[in-house]
Amino acid sequence: MKGTIQTGFGDPGEVLRVGEVATPAVDDDGVLVRVRAASIHIGAVYGVRGLPKVMRPMFKRFIAKSGVIGQDMAGVVEAVGQDVTQLTAGDEVFGSCRGAFAEYASTKVGALASKPANLTFEQASAIGVSAFTALQALRDHGNLQAGQHVLVTGASGGVGTFAVQIAKAMGAEVTGVCSTRNLDMVRSIGADHVIDYTHQDFTKGEPEYDLILDNVGANSLQDMRSVLTTDGLLLANGAPAPSGWFGGLGHPVKVAVSSMFSKQQGRPFLSMENEDDLGTLQDLAAAGKITPVIDQVFPLESAVDAIAFVGEGHNQGTSVISM
Ligand SMILES: NC(=O)c1ccc[n+]([C@@H]2O[C@H](COP(=O)([O-])OP(=O)(O)OC[C@H]3O[C@@H](n4cnc5c(N)ncnc54)[C@H](OP(=O)(O)O)[C@@H]3O)[C@@H](O)[C@H]2O)c1
Repeated sequence: MKGTIQTGFGDPGEVLRVGEVATPAVDDDGVLVRVRAASIHIGAVYGVRGLPKVMRPMFKRFIAKSGVIGQDMAGVVEAVGQDVTQLTAGDEVFGSCRGAFAEYASTKVGALASKPANLTFEQASAIGVSAFTALQALRDHGNLQAGQHVLVTGASGGVGTFAVQIAKAMGAEVTGVCSTRNLDMVRSIGADHVIDYTHQDFTKGEPEYDLILDNVGANSLQDMRSVLTTDGLLLANGAPAPSGWFGGLGHPVKVAVSSMFSKQQGRPFLSMENEDDLGTLQDLAAAGKITPVIDQVFPLESAVDAIAFVGEGHNQGTSVISM
């Protein structure tokens, strides 16, 4: 089969190639999926670049034995292991695996859910790391309640487009911060208010937000705290692009330290994919409460260009590779 193989850490054009690899084996409790689409989140690009360098041992854990990369995908079940009763060949599924940027990927049955019929394979593949991050940020780390006012920065990106929709589904009032070209898109996915960061600094407003989910890291923590309500919470999810051995890690460390001195701040967090939340996202999608926003669709042969594109950091939703 064809897959996107990583041979080292560096620029996508230097360390990635699309080539022939063995089709992955299926474990007894596993499922082999004929991948129809796989989505790219910004973390996948950091994993290719291997930045910050201190994270390289962790990045290696996301690469399949064959060297193929990619985590989030949707497709059709090709074969199941002997212990699997929940799925059968021909079922349409989405979920996570190692080695998604390929024609076939194998994973545990618990990492998959049935693809909602109202989503395309491209859309279903986008319900991955970015969606889990948005859900867990708002619900678990932000404790967002109906009627509260949440501001989402990077509202046009992979995490932000899910965060705007999930916050609306939770009954919140939502303000999205994005650039001029994305104002209509962010409004169209449900934001009650939009702020164009190229013309307006949201930190110069009134203290009106119960929660800020910052997916960018461009504003100072102090400035962002100034527009929070007294009991408001700042969740610093985004950080400047990683570099060198530790570059990019300073931001979460700063947040963690200043969290000790201000009740208005949430600690940095790492999202985790899990079966329960996959089911929650599946239900939200099937009910039409989240509809993934798809930016560019690349053929598998152009996977290297696709990953380089996402690495530029100007996603309008999520970009995917289609097989
Ligand atoms: N905690 C976790 O486990 C976890 C998981 C996933 C991601 N993350 C982090 O979350 C952050 C966002 O990830 P993502 O996948 O959403 O990135 P992304 O898809 O690249 O989206 C970033 C978005 O922000 C917009 N943007 C750039 N500068 C902005 C500014 N000053 N104000 C408002 N919007 C701005 C970009 O569009 P324009 O440039 O066109 O404006 C783009 O649409 C990253 O730092 C990532 O590392 C954390």
